[in-house]
Amino acid sequence: MSGNRTFTMIKPDAVKAGNIGNILQMMNAAGFRIVAMKYTKLSAEKAGEFYEVHKERPFYGELVDFMSSGPIVAAVLEKDNAVEDFRKLIGATNPAEAAEGTIRAKYATSIGENAVHGADSDENAAREGSFHFAGTEMF
Ligand code: CMP
Repeated sequence: MSGNRTFTMIKPDAVKAGNIGNILQMMNAAGFRIVAMKYTKLSAEKAGEFYEVHKERPFYGELVDFMSSGPIVAAVLEKDNAVEDFRKLIGATNPAEAAEGTIRAKYATSIGENAVHGADSDENAAREGSFHFAGTEMF
């Protein structure tokens, strides 16, 4: 039975630190199925477009620079209640506030360099998934 979908990125800090495998293992152990996945790098233009909703925020420039600073892993994941359960698995945006055992508590270093992204609604998960993947790349 197929469940709901969410969208994630393993961010440049976690890739650089060698944590792709550890983070994928945590997603797998929590019951998420990989629907689509790619190792890629965002241009500053693409990162700006992806995070357009934050354009007016003071950290937007820093966010775009960081997200285009190195390779990332982008993925669509599937599980019942995917968006909410995935946000629980990754923990709070600020790693200082992330619950023990969450991905950000383990691997994030700051609110900006916080290891992973997780979509915050079903609607954004669908939008973000199709930003990175064609329908023919989702299985
Ligand atoms: P993410 O879940 O990818 O969604 C938006 C990102 O903006 C967020 O994770 C953080 O990495 C980043 N962000 C949010 N607040 C701040 C902040 N105060 N300073 C720097 N980056 C931030």
